[in-house]
Amino acid sequence: MLVGLMGIGGGGPTDTDRLKKEIRKAEADKKYSPLHKDVCTIQTETTCDLRDLWLNYNESHLLHRILDHADHYQAHLPPRHGEGKVKLLEIGIQSGGSTRAWRQWFGDRLMYVGIDVEPGCKRSESLAEDLHVEIGSQLDEKFLLSVCSKYGPFDVIIDDGAHRPEMIIKSLATLFPGNECMYEKGLYVIEDMQTMVMPKYAKAPRDMYDIVGEAFWSMHWHWAYVTKLTGLSAANYTDGQRKGLMQHPIYKNHVRALHAYDSITFIVRGNSTKPLEIHRGKDGIAYGKGHPMAQRVAGQAGRGELHAHQLAESGR
Ligand SMILES: C[S@@+](CC[C@H](N)C(=O)[O-])C[C@H]1O[C@@H](n2cnc3c(N)ncnc32)[C@H](O)[C@@H]1O
Repeated sequence: MLVGLMGIGGGGPTDTDRLKKEIRKAEADKKYSPLHKDVCTIQTETTCDLRDLWLNYNESHLLHRILDHADHYQAHLPPRHGEGKVKLLEIGIQSGGSTRAWRQWFGDRLMYVGIDVEPGCKRSESLAEDLHVEIGSQLDEKFLLSVCSKYGPFDVIIDDGAHRPEMIIKSLATLFPGNECMYEKGLYVIEDMQTMVMPKYAKAPRDMYDIVGEAFWSMHWHWAYVTKLTGLSAANYTDGQRKGLMQHPIYKNHVRALHAYDSITFIVRGNSTKPLEIHRGKDGIAYGKGHPMAQRVAGQAGRGELHAHQLAESGR
């Protein structure tokens, strides 16, 4: 596979072995050749530039990363080059390696705010480079909101803090819902979700994965059927009634997309609107017996198992 990807002729196990050996040697020498791009986890036209940047990082502040996250970040972050600042808030700075790496990635485009409970993290502040550090806790709502009013709203928020469910939820509940902390199309990232299976972080995995699952269901509030008896969907109710019925307390109708990978989740903010359902053509087949919509509609013998709204739309 490596041989094919790199367009090197000859094929066969000998070439593959040679290339693997070269990559291993480059890794051992801490010199990552461009060959390394061919083993990145996302096989798209996008190259693995962020992965390469992390691998070649050589500033003094320690960088400690899960390498695959680089490809996911590259897929979902705002473009590296372009107009205007990218405003990024990171919860959890520690040694400051990620601060430096984000600066390398976005260059002058970056406006970075890091927060941490450890006063020593102040060393990563560099006002000349638009890198700011505030000391405080991700559990402190007042502190978080003061950071938002001083620097926000943000394009990207990364929670790489204490990795405890109650802290993740508290920060999310403070930072996600309002426009003062996040732009409408902002990106909220929760890192190191593998901690859900580590008892010193979470009592039970679902304390952490539920909050991600709830982002998924929050996208669907406008699909809800209010009553099975009438068969009326939420579309028959006013917005106020629907919101009261189904909106999630944190996400409301502000989740546009959710991308979940091993140990990292990306929540794309933005108004969720109900996708348009369409029917074309008239020659339908009714739902089969096992389907919940397989109900007879009075007076529609022969096609009675078509649901009422389908009949209306198809003009039958
Ligand atoms: C995983 S490290 C951050 C690593 C850093 N983002 C990086 O990639 O190099 C977690 C950091 O969260 C900080 N932290 C722990 N509890 C916190 C809290 N309640 N509020 C803010 N930061 C906290 C710790 O002090 C620690 O520096």
